[in-house]
Amino acid sequence: MPDPPAGEAAPGPPDPLFLATAIEAVLEAGRIQLASFGKDGLRIDKKGAIDLVTEVDVAVERRFRAFIAERFPGHAILAEELGGPEPGSSARHCWIYDPIDGTTNFAHGLPIFCASLALEIDGVLSVGAIYDPTREELFTAERGGGAYLNGRRLAVTHADVLIDALLCTGFHYDVHHSGEAVLELFGAFVRRARAVRRLGSAALDLAYVAAGRLDGFWEDLLKPWDVAAGALMVQEAGGVISALDGQAFDVRKARIVAANPALHPQLLEVIREHRARR
Ligand code: IPD
Ligand code: CA
Ligand code: CA
Repeated sequence: MPDPPAGEAAPGPPDPLFLATAIEAVLEAGRIQLASFGKDGLRIDKKGAIDLVTEVDVAVERRFRAFIAERFPGHAILAEELGGPEPGSSARHCWIYDPIDGTTNFAHGLPIFCASLALEIDGVLSVGAIYDPTREELFTAERGGGAYLNGRRLAVTHADVLIDALLCTGFHYDVHHSGEAVLELFGAFVRRARAVRRLGSAALDLAYVAAGRLDGFWEDLLKPWDVAAGALMVQEAGGVISALDGQAFDVRKARIVAANPALHPQLLEVIREHRARR
């Protein structure tokens, strides 16, 4: 293999301490989440008309920030509730964290939520961990090392036509105001697929594509912390990810289509037809 260009990281497996750290962090998140889940008196605030944040989202993220600051003081953090990294940060390592993905479910006592954590090294998603504490399901991935659920290797499905496919999507928090295109596209997939689900946690949606529980997933206007870990998992399970227009996936734009290799072009085609009609 030729040497990497100057300034670029040599390819190779990430330091195992990174995955161990990611696992430790999401398991700890799960413990904090479960301590309050379904209990009375949970403090819930609104970031927008339908966009919630609970005291647990903030508590989990604060704990995580303290943990990383202690273990890897030079690493950057990009997380949902408290922002960062500093503009102009030159850190090579950036942890991308959603302390609760599925906050609406969590706030309503619906057990479909998780903590989702990825590590980007030199701009490359390299490690991911997603933990669903209500099912005790830990999804992990390392670039080049495969994706796993509780230690069992994952692979995407082989469904090759949409009519045999179980798909999933989600809606951004502005959907009440600017959701016509989103809802029409949802309708287009409902007419073409076996069924379409909306579970309320993009990270679990992607983990489920990796695990072969779903055949495909699409969503527009997500955030990096919703998709960073799950996108790596889908790729490491043999799936394909891209932006909605088929361009290369960009975690900071987070518009995503994820599916097995046979279905991915078919999802893109439905999106292309839908856009051409509008
Ligand atoms: C949301 C969930 C949901 C998706 C939304 C996300 P949150 O994240 O992933 O499934 O449809 O777009 O914002 O707010 O629960 O962390
Ligand atoms: Ca989220
Ligand atoms: Ca969240």
